[in-house]
Amino acid sequence: MIICAFNSYANKDGGAAIIRDTGKTGDPLEYVAISEERLSRVKYAYFSPIRSIRYCMQAMGIDNLDEIDLFVTDWCSRKTFINSNPSYRKLENDYIMHRLRINREKLHFTPTHHYAHAASAYYPSGYDDAAILVIDGMGSQAEAISLYRAHGDVIELVEQCKSQSIGLLYTAVTRQLLGFGTGQEGKTMGLAPYGKNVNKKVLDIQGSYGNLQIDYSRFMDRYPERRILQDDLVPCKDSSKVTDDYYARIAYEIQDEVERACLHLAAHAKKIVKSRNLCLAGGVALNCVANWKIVESGLFKNVFIQPAASDAGLPLGMALGEYYQRSLQKKRMHFKNAYTGIKYGRDIIRRELDDLVIPYREIDDQGVAGLIAEGNIVGWFFGESEYGPRALGHRSILADPRNPGARDMLNLKVKHREIFRPFAPAILEEKAAEYFKMELPSPFMLLAPMTHREAIDRIPSVVHVDGTARVQTVSSNNCSRFYHLIECFEKITGVPVLLNTSFNDNGEPIVETPIDALLCFMRTHMDYLVLEGFLVDKRALTDSQRSELVVRISQLRDQRLKEDYQRALQQLCRGYNAAEMRRYLRQEKDRATYHLNYKAYDRLEEKIVECCERGLSVSILCDREHGRIFKKLEASHCLRISSEIVIVDDHESLRGCDLKGLFPADVVIVALFNMAFRAEEALRSMWDGDIYMVYDRYTRKITCACELLDFQQDRNTVHDLHLHSAEYNGNCDWDKYFCSLDDVSRDDYTNTEI
Ligand SMILES: [Fe+2]
Repeated sequence: MIICAFNSYANKDGGAAIIRDTGKTGDPLEYVAISEERLSRVKYAYFSPIRSIRYCMQAMGIDNLDEIDLFVTDWCSRKTFINSNPSYRKLENDYIMHRLRINREKLHFTPTHHYAHAASAYYPSGYDDAAILVIDGMGSQAEAISLYRAHGDVIELVEQCKSQSIGLLYTAVTRQLLGFGTGQEGKTMGLAPYGKNVNKKVLDIQGSYGNLQIDYSRFMDRYPERRILQDDLVPCKDSSKVTDDYYARIAYEIQDEVERACLHLAAHAKKIVKSRNLCLAGGVALNCVANWKIVESGLFKNVFIQPAASDAGLPLGMALGEYYQRSLQKKRMHFKNAYTGIKYGRDIIRRELDDLVIPYREIDDQGVAGLIAEGNIVGWFFGESEYGPRALGHRSILADPRNPGARDMLNLKVKHREIFRPFAPAILEEKAAEYFKMELPSPFMLLAPMTHREAIDRIPSVVHVDGTARVQTVSSNNCSRFYHLIECFEKITGVPVLLNTSFNDNGEPIVETPIDALLCFMRTHMDYLVLEGFLVDKRALTDSQRSELVVRISQLRDQRLKEDYQRALQQLCRGYNAAEMRRYLRQEKDRATYHLNYKAYDRLEEKIVECCERGLSVSILCDREHGRIFKKLEASHCLRISSEIVIVDDHESLRGCDLKGLFPADVVIVALFNMAFRAEEALRSMWDGDIYMVYDRYTRKITCACELLDFQQDRNTVHDLHLHSAEYNGNCDWDKYFCSLDDVSRDDYTNTEI
């Protein structure tokens, strides 16, 4: 059985994975996984993962999509293959999905975003049972925190939180107050220790805790228009000021909060699931300081954290989830390291170097260790690339941790990033307890224990200002070559530790190919590059030779990126046509604008007027922003006689509001976004008639399905009134998509009233 999984809607962490079970006893479950950014060379690109699909197929020796038995994909707010982007902003991604050569019978949706995260952590963990915590910003059904119970091959949901929770909070502060960009939560974590010793608090977070429910709605509004509500705060506009006390305190306070929240969640998970094992996934699980607090608490004997804990890990989770749900004879997965990419052989590398006329020589690990011990900065490229954001000794930049100046040198001249950011130690697993206060391995660099006081002076460049270190433990079992290199370094220096940072420049994805590595090496101030045992010495090149090489390698790589993309389109898509795509995108934009800005409002207004004319009483619960349409109706006297409007502005006013005033009513309409879930709960406890939620709770758009809005009183349910038209409905109507795309101007396809 071969299963291919990929993100269907544009995701900043998009990618693909393929797993294969040959069916033969004794054969392992094979897997390959990659993130699109590694191949497109654009970080957080929100792009269709076709390069990733092709990469995985090549790794598995698959030529044709027909050879794949099952495809699994995800969804954003509804189970559609296309039209799942928030706000329906159509991109090339959507057009490519139209054109993928996939037999629709083979396509399946992963149950939810958080389920895929849970599967990505549990199945590779090797545990027989576990509690699984997924903590991120927001999933496919607005879930923010999920607790699962896993036993054998089965993962079941126990409890879920859909509030403005810890992931959104951390991101909001990172972006809006500290001024760090998308995906830069790690910077906040790195800055936090600088604000530790200040007593007065800057943030008035006001989180509410209850079981799995952690809510910060008093402090911030909800995605997609995330807003921090505390208006006396001053966002950082000048990045050179971010280390000032004020911002360092903010970073510290938010980090403190995430640690408190994670500990609370872990304790709750333990209480409910009662397993000795915990699996963690979701973007918050990349917070190695919070992870360490959980480990340190001793609540669980074992903790496994998926190395690609952010959405980058979803393709592997989707594929594994599908495999364990469907396969009759399931094999256990052996996920002993995070090297899920492909290996570039020495022949390929030698050819690249020869073609580019770059001088090189062979070097063994002892030689490389010697160069590092002499104070050189070495780019190290070996084997398959890592899954997730951490370089774990296959795509790494290495330096001597004993050198106190190495950190500043790397930050300024190689990585071109903020001076406060720490670097990680990679240490022989059996020596870890000698240097750090830890007793269990940390193979994915996702734990940050304290360093022993006496060890700090020995490895100053990998210890953070508060004495913690983001440790990677390396064993001969999970990474024998990297282990050997560190052993060689220990023989020379007596220190079994290397400074290990990801092989990339600031703002660039980690290198994937030898050409990526050569380009990054030539552009930065690394001293040496080691590609599978071939050594390139930068001092053997003059400045002009190096500049000329940067131009040539850059052009070569651009050319290859273009060709690879074209090949992926040809191989995976049926009839990709740039002119057709432009027409499609233009048309979709017009149509979405019409639907979102006019049609739904018009139809809702019509229906309410009709209701009132029929003598039905209509009660409305709304906030000021989302209630504008009703104010308009009230002004036109439609609602005056028989209707009640209750306006709430925040969670507090919702809590304090007398909702009984809404009843009795023939029709109850809720027009809220942030507070929709709370409002639904509150109303449900006092009303058993129909409630109409007119806002799409995921996209913040009024997407009213007026075909459903017939206000019958006997259905006794809560209706999510999504835009209900053939093009946007929840069923994946492939025939319609494909035949319509043969001629995008056909009237029966567009079916709009523009
Ligand atoms: Fe996620």
